[in-house]
Amino acid sequence: MSVHNETRRVTVPEIRAHKGKEPVVCLTCYHAHTARLLDDHVDLMLVGDSLGMVMHGLENTLGVTLDMMITHGKAVMRGSKRALVVVDMPFGSYEESPAIAFRNAARVIQETGATAVKMEGGARMAETIRYLTQRGIPVMGHIGLTPQTVHVTGGFRTTGRTPEEWPAIEADAKAVAEAGAFAMVLEGMAEPLAAKITAEVAVPTIGIGASPACDGQILVMEDMLGLNPNPPKFVREYAHLGPAIEAAVKAYASDVRSRSFPGTENVYPMKRSKP
Ligand code: KIV
Repeated sequence: MSVHNETRRVTVPEIRAHKGKEPVVCLTCYHAHTARLLDDHVDLMLVGDSLGMVMHGLENTLGVTLDMMITHGKAVMRGSKRALVVVDMPFGSYEESPAIAFRNAARVIQETGATAVKMEGGARMAETIRYLTQRGIPVMGHIGLTPQTVHVTGGFRTTGRTPEEWPAIEADAKAVAEAGAFAMVLEGMAEPLAAKITAEVAVPTIGIGASPACDGQILVMEDMLGLNPNPPKFVREYAHLGPAIEAAVKAYASDVRSRSFPGTENVYPMKRSKP
């Protein structure tokens, strides 16, 4: 029996086909209302584990759990119809072995309905990326600055500033692409290296703080909307929602305190008694 499904989502091969062509438009998204607003304008929404910091006030992404990712993944899927939705694998859910990564990624795909997962790490994750893709789970890679290794690197530091660093990062990019990732995030990477990797790998590179040389771009939505009081330096703010929300709440508080609140006469019209 064929099932007619009106929802037509962007597919993984369609994202791959952007390589060397029109840039891929990506944003992070964590909830249903914003998913609905983004849906017609982006190719890919990432339910990033940055949600731990943005939505839950954590200091870094290490405290994010698989259940948190699944909850937000479901919300984004409910709010969207068109964009490809990718859910981040949180710290501790995929590094141990390909089989454990598959089990947890399968849970994400089954419970959220999202199309793909993303995982951090280069050459060390190649075996896992291959294992998942060969078993039906599309994987987006993530190399360069990898926030889940913050305690090893000692901070969020731009990668590839000196040519000595390049060979290891290029090897990561090639290993991720050859293992079958359909795209890869290049985070916090010096432009010449991002450009070199983009020319070297056959899949789209999606930059965040990695220059326009990449095949696409991603930003944390709250950063580009001006909701983060301390956004990363590379972020261009397209709106200033932080100050706008504060002004709106201030006006509301003033209305409540002065009792200048709209009445309900038009909302619940009283039945007039006959004269
Ligand atoms: O978690 C996240 O939002 C990400 C993006 C910054 C790429 O990984």
